[in-house]
Amino acid sequence: MLSCAAVTRINENYQKLKAGYLFPEIGRRVREYAKANPDAKVIRLGIGDVTEPLVPSIVRAMHEAVDEMARRDSFKGYGPEQGYDFLIDAIREHDYASRGVSLDRDEIFVSDGSKCDVGNVQEIFANDAKILVTDPVYPVYVDSNLMAGREIAYLEATAANGFVPAPPSGGGIDVAYLCSPNNPTGAVATKAQLAQWIAWARATGAVIIFDAAYEAYIRDPDLPRSIYEIDGAREVAIEVRSFSKRAGFTGVRCAFMVVPKALGPLNAMWSRRHTTKFNGASYIVQRGAAAVYSPDGLVETRAQIDFYLENARILREGLAKSGFTIFGGVHAPYLWLETPGRQPSWDFFDQLLSKAHLVGTPGAGFGPSGEGYFRLSAYNSRANVEEAVARIAKL
Ligand code: MLT
Repeated sequence: MLSCAAVTRINENYQKLKAGYLFPEIGRRVREYAKANPDAKVIRLGIGDVTEPLVPSIVRAMHEAVDEMARRDSFKGYGPEQGYDFLIDAIREHDYASRGVSLDRDEIFVSDGSKCDVGNVQEIFANDAKILVTDPVYPVYVDSNLMAGREIAYLEATAANGFVPAPPSGGGIDVAYLCSPNNPTGAVATKAQLAQWIAWARATGAVIIFDAAYEAYIRDPDLPRSIYEIDGAREVAIEVRSFSKRAGFTGVRCAFMVVPKALGPLNAMWSRRHTTKFNGASYIVQRGAAAVYSPDGLVETRAQIDFYLENARILREGLAKSGFTIFGGVHAPYLWLETPGRQPSWDFFDQLLSKAHLVGTPGAGFGPSGEGYFRLSAYNSRANVEEAVARIAKL
């Protein structure tokens, strides 16, 4: 008798994926190393995962929300799938109106994380839509489209173009993913650069998915934090934002996506998708996210981001002293460095782990143009960051 597995028609597109997702693969290698070397004090600057606890105003708001859930008169069941108005209005006011962008409530979709949003958004495009990513790239854009069987074109982001490539000269692309501040390179697009992309999208009919998960790390007021700061963007761009790196929510989970109604059917389609497949982020979490925008929350979360930016500065300057060529790490939590002699990035990963007990992310994990580069994240304690710099200096 045939087993079920033998007759099931599976999604063959999964065969096109690398065997494992990048960060679990790094985790596996580090666990193996730590098991074999139990005395090694491993410092992790690999996955960009926050290390600082939630700030007091967020903790207070979440405690209060738990208390509300504990009383019959204020208990809440399912909330609005799209998010509570108290959070959506805070987002509209602080993230957008403050920068001259007016959004309606029904253009913002609160979710439980940007990884899900950027992974899921491809569902509203045609099965044979042609995808463009800049390379190196956050692997979720690529893998989620490979799973759906789409073709992907790569646009090289190199030191020569400041890791912010210009749009391609022609059309033929349906959806382009941009990320600024960039993961992994830390490069930030200027208004003029984004304006070029908007003009290209408007001329060719492409839609831009703009991943702004790291916008809170931008300290230069002239750099755009939202793509909607650029004229004409709302007809061609979807924007993804997250509380993960902005307020330490990697374990709490809350994000949102903006799908302007000016994008035509896409707003209603995303709403249909969201309400069908998602039952809303938790009330307690959304209360915590809204507290980010309270007067105390704004001050406290800014100080937390300053802390990570200072880590980035210490890494940047320390590694430069040790002779590394470094990019990023200024308005971003990621540093992008050339491996010594542009050696293969997984070899450098193994060397750094065995000789300095340091974990980073091999550039090759972010795409072909990442080979010869290495990403370090600024998310760790000050003591560990200083120790990491000292260990690298001794290499
Ligand atoms: C990263 O390290 O690239 C990010 O933390 C991954 C993520 O946000 O999913």
